[in-house]
Amino acid sequence: MSEFKDKVVLITGGAAGLGKCLAENFAKEDAKIVLVDINHDKLEETKAALNLGDRCITVSADVSKESEIIKYVEKAKQHFGKIDIFCNNAGIVINQQIKETDEASLDKIWGINMKGFYLGMKHVILAMEENGGGAIVNTGSVDSYSAAIGNALYTSSKYAVLAMTRCAALEEADKGIRVNLVCPGPINTDLMRDFEKRKNPDNPQAIIDSFSSQIPLGRYAEPQDVVNAILFLASEKASYITGTKIVVDGGWTHE
Ligand SMILES: NC(=O)c1ccc[n+]([C@@H]2O[C@H](COP(=O)([O-])OP(=O)(O)OC[C@H]3O[C@@H](n4cnc5c(N)ncnc54)[C@H](O)[C@@H]3O)[C@@H](O)[C@H]2O)c1
Repeated sequence: MSEFKDKVVLITGGAAGLGKCLAENFAKEDAKIVLVDINHDKLEETKAALNLGDRCITVSADVSKESEIIKYVEKAKQHFGKIDIFCNNAGIVINQQIKETDEASLDKIWGINMKGFYLGMKHVILAMEENGGGAIVNTGSVDSYSAAIGNALYTSSKYAVLAMTRCAALEEADKGIRVNLVCPGPINTDLMRDFEKRKNPDNPQAIIDSFSSQIPLGRYAEPQDVVNAILFLASEKASYITGTKIVVDGGWTHE
């Protein structure tokens, strides 16, 4: 029997990319799933494809708003009574040099990638404490500890997620809540497809080739490569692991 059977797993950004792949994997493991996303239509498509009936609920929510975070936590508790595993994952990327950025782009990316992660942890931790414990896996990035031109907004938000992960792990260790971070390099999802098109509208494949040539394993991650690390961190096999990160980058940053 799967150790995730009947565990309640809440996934933000669950309609697409990494979040969708997480949902598919937890579904195979007989978990109960709360899928959260701002994209209502894709969310419903993903739920239908999972075909889990009332073992999966969806919550349309914008994670940059605290009232919507409270809503997804309350709905999870109302429907399933608890949250065992939190995949704090919804994120966006904006690629601009500092001198090109403005207050609106700063507010947008930090609203989702920093405030959304922070307040997501706050309200889920409160729910997990009521339930005697749980596991949180935040989605960081190789940009949680490195730097690149045009990446200050995204990188600063992902550095913040690393810092929050470490603080939360210390604060919650004696409450039975483990908090860890997964740090992927480029993954084959829509997020990278959009990024490649913005960087080189005439030849997005050139961006893929350039990144792939810098990665020792010679390719982007597939979502499953990253999900494998998240499943490990969420599992009892990682019961002595908290406050740390797993890098899934094909050897790119050798961190
Ligand atoms: N794709 C990569 O190369 C890569 C690399 C490193 C880290 N990451 C991180 O992985 C996570 C998932 O990224 P992905 O590649 O699956 O991206 P994606 O764009 O494929 O999927 C992200 C999902 O988040 C949802 N979302 C966006 N803003 C939201 C909001 N305000 N509220 C609720 N949902 C919202 C989107 O609708 C989408 O369904 C992100 O945190 C991202 O920063 C991605």
